[in-house]
Amino acid sequence: MNSFKWNDKSSVGIEAMDNDHKELFDIINSLYVGINQGFQYAKLDEILLELLRYSRYHFEAEESLMRKYNYPELQKHIDSHVKYVEKIGEIRKRFTDTDNDLVVLMKMQEFLREWWINHIESTDKKYGEYLASIGVKYKVH
Ligand SMILES: [Fe+2]
Repeated sequence: MNSFKWNDKSSVGIEAMDNDHKELFDIINSLYVGINQGFQYAKLDEILLELLRYSRYHFEAEESLMRKYNYPELQKHIDSHVKYVEKIGEIRKRFTDTDNDLVVLMKMQEFLREWWINHIESTDKKYGEYLASIGVKYKVH
């Protein structure tokens, strides 16, 4: 599997959000590296927790930005974030319950790549377009 790279086509047009997405891709890549290099369970779980922590931080930033500018599809977008956090929690639990089965983590890796590419493409870009349409250009949070 190739490393998971952010490129300009993934831009939502808001620099701070793009930077968060790049950071998230890096964490997902470090999970991939960790699986392949046979990291200890504790180290892999640390990466998972970091992924959860950073995802939550990023979702809050996105949601407050959308809220600030009365984005009409805010609730739908929040629902998508909530589902993601639940799913990561479930997979993390399954990983522990299956005695740290790496196949569970590999599947999670695939899920993460697909989820993020799809979420940015079909959900995040919409608020980017909305903000652009009302003249908001954000350089920082
Ligand atoms: Fe989002």
